Amino acid sequence: MKKIYGIVGHPVIHSLSPVIHKAAFQAEGIDAEYRIFDINPEDPENLANFCYETEVNGIAGFSVTMPYKEEILPYLDEYDPLVKLVGSANTVKNEDSMLIGYNTDTMGAIAALREKTDIQGKRILVLGAGGASRAVCYGLKEFGGRISIFNRTHEKAEELADELEIDAIEFRHIKELAPEIVINCTPVGSVPNTEESLLHAPDLAGVKVVMDIITRPMETRLLKEAKKAGAEVISGERMLLHQAAGQFAIWFSKPAPFEVMEKALYGQLKKTP
Ligand code: ATR
Repeated sequence: MKKIYGIVGHPVIHSLSPVIHKAAFQAEGIDAEYRIFDINPEDPENLANFCYETEVNGIAGFSVTMPYKEEILPYLDEYDPLVKLVGSANTVKNEDSMLIGYNTDTMGAIAALREKTDIQGKRILVLGAGGASRAVCYGLKEFGGRISIFNRTHEKAEELADELEIDAIEFRHIKELAPEIVINCTPVGSVPNTEESLLHAPDLAGVKVVMDIITRPMETRLLKEAKKAGAEVISGERMLLHQAAGQFAIWFSKPAPFEVMEKALYGQLKKTP
C-alpha cells in the first residue's frame, strides 16, 4: 500500500514542504504521497482526532508546523530526548502504531548557519523568546555560541535565558554587545507586514552574519537592512531545507537526497517567489 506522509498545521497552504519531500520521494524511488493536512485550530479535538486516526488512514509520518509544534506533544507515544529539551516536535514517525516525535528544527538552524559561519565562541544575538527561539538557542548553546536573547517582553527573554544559562539583553544594550551573528526568531517582517524589522542597518554595524527563519518573504526587511550594513545573510529557506532533510532521514533511516530537495525548493521559489 502506498504510504502517506504530510504536513500538519494551519494555515499550510503556502508550505514549501510538499515540493521538497515529493522530490526526495521520487529521487529515492519511494512509493509514497506527501499531503497537506490543514487542521483548524478552533476545535482542539481536531488535532487529537488526526493523531488517533493516523493508523487507519495509513499515515506513516508527518511534519508538524505552526501552531502545533507544542500542542502535538500529548498525542505522542514517545519522543526523542531533544523534543523534551526543546519543548516542541516538528516531525512524527509512525513506528508500529506508535507515534514517535522528533525535532529537526534545531539541527536545521545550526546546519543553515554553519554554511556561512562557525558558531563556537561567537557573540550571537537571538531575537525572540518563543518556541522557535528555544529550538535555535538550544542548538547554538550545544555548538558553543555565546548567546544573548532580546525579546519584546523582556521577562520572557529572562525566563528562557535562565533556563538555558545564557543572557537576556535589553534593546539599548545591543550596540555594546556588538554581536557577530544575529538570528531573527520572531514573525516580525513576515507577510503581510513585510516592511517591519526589529533592527535596521545602523543597529547592525559590525555584524558578520544575519539569519532570518522567516520563509515568506524569503528576503525579509531585516535581511535587506543586513545587506546594507555589509553583513552576509541567510534566509529562512536554508533552515527549512535542512530540517526537511532531517525529517527524511528519520522517516526512511537513510540520508536525504539533499541536492534534489534543494533543486526542487529553488525551482518552486523561482515560480512563486
Ligand atoms: P514561535 O513558536 O514561532 O516562536 P511564539 O512562541 O508565539 O512563536 O513566539 C513568538 C516570538 O516572537 C515571541 O518572542 C514574541 O515576543 P513576545 O514574547 O513579546 O510576545 C515575538 N514577537 C511576535 N510578534 C512580535 C512583534 N510584533 N514585535 C516583537 N516581537 C514579536
